[in-house]
Amino acid sequence: MQWKALAGLTLGATQAHALLRFACSQLVVERFDPLLNPGAVSPHVHQVRFVSFNVTMDPGNDFPSISTCTTCTFKEDFSNYWTAVLYFKHPNGTFKRVPQLPGQLLGNPNGGMTVYYIQPPSGSFTSFKKGFRMIVGDAMARAVNTSSPEANAMNFRCLDANGGNGGVTGAPGTDSQTLPSKPCAGGIRSQINFPTCWDGVNIDSANHKSHVAYPTNGACPSTHPVQIPQIFLETVWDTAQLNSMWPSGTPQPFVFSMGDPTGAGQHADYMFGWQGDSLTRAMNSCKDFGGSCSTLLTQSESAINSCKQQARVDEATDGWLPALPGCNPIQAGPGRAVANSGCGAPTTWIGTDPTAPPVPTGNPPASTVTPPVSTVVPAPGGTAAHWAQCGGQGYAGPTTCASPYTCKAQNAYYSQCL
Ligand SMILES: *[C@@H]1O[C@H](CO)[C@@H](O)[C@H](O)[C@H]1NC(C)=O
Ligand SMILES: *[C@@H]1O[C@H](CO)[C@@H](O)[C@H](O)[C@H]1NC(C)=O
Ligand SMILES: *[C@@H]1O[C@H](CO)[C@@H](O)[C@H](O)[C@H]1NC(C)=O
Repeated sequence: MQWKALAGLTLGATQAHALLRFACSQLVVERFDPLLNPGAVSPHVHQVRFVSFNVTMDPGNDFPSISTCTTCTFKEDFSNYWTAVLYFKHPNGTFKRVPQLPGQLLGNPNGGMTVYYIQPPSGSFTSFKKGFRMIVGDAMARAVNTSSPEANAMNFRCLDANGGNGGVTGAPGTDSQTLPSKPCAGGIRSQINFPTCWDGVNIDSANHKSHVAYPTNGACPSTHPVQIPQIFLETVWDTAQLNSMWPSGTPQPFVFSMGDPTGAGQHADYMFGWQGDSLTRAMNSCKDFGGSCSTLLTQSESAINSCKQQARVDEATDGWLPALPGCNPIQAGPGRAVANSGCGAPTTWIGTDPTAPPVPTGNPPASTVTPPVSTVVPAPGGTAAHWAQCGGQGYAGPTTCASPYTCKAQNAYYSQCL
């Protein structure tokens, strides 16, 4: 299992393979997910690390040129990375977002995550194409499918006391595929490995997954023969400061923003955005654990921490909250969680977005959706315009897209002209 090999990396070990490891601070915490819920408020809260984050993210966008800053140490990385957020459920029923800790040896970024790009074991790789994006994980999962390479590519480390903040001898602890059942003295680290095999053609797919695959016995399958760098994300949750409020003998009190107390639903999204050939250059020459690489431009910690975005969904995500933001009751599984709505949470965002696509009907259910500021009306002649809906359960409008766009299924409820 791939994650086991990666979890075995230790600081200071000689790296045979190219490696980039660096910090990206937190840009914003809000309910946006431009991959799964383009043009709509997302069902649950994410934390994001890059500044051109938006309610919709056109693959044609050139992130380096439309962004004013990046939260990553390496200045040429304008990629977007986002993950779900962890909350603590107090015995009195209220929720508090768990603060985050920096990764070891990477200074003191504000929240955020540690990003790794690792050369595949067999050496050669092709860098990502402009517009490339992918998702790992399933927010609705509540049980780990141990036959799934994807599920096996994510886990948690229950960090020992010296594994949390600043330890320099590795990050000791034990790994589990669900949230640790006992208090962790150094916090909990989410560890997510993205797939390393690509079909070589598509920068995205309807489920944002099937254009990529995990290797089998170390080799890419014939359907996905092209090796891409291994992206590995670590987020350290400072759960230790909340452990004193965890009554002994009760179940573990941490819950992901989508109402997941198991951890099986942790997930991460990636949109490639490195400037020019900077990633390839770096992967061909750097092997550093501590956030430096001589061929890349770096920026100061104060620069990455001052790159921020105002949350655009008008709701609290911090403090002691009566409920998780959005309609996310705790669903412990083991069956898949069901989407909820109608709790009165905001479904619109602040600020106008002239070319936002229409809100997908049924995801979340249409009855709860307030249309976004601008709605794309189907073009005359029975064709649907760029961004417009063109299919999905319960949809009765035009199914042909205006040239040059094609109708692409986003999920069972929504196809869109892209
Ligand atoms: C946000 O999205 C809109 C609609 O796609 C686009 O016009 C705008 O350029 C985007 N802004 C950024 C900073 O990406
Ligand atoms: C729940 O506990 C927290 C931590 O002690 C406290 O700040 C908050 O006010 C409590 N909320 C309620 C509703 O009791
Ligand atoms: C578990 O993963 C395997 C391999 O991907 C898949 O074939 C199977 O359908 C999955 N089981 C469930 C219950 O999702």
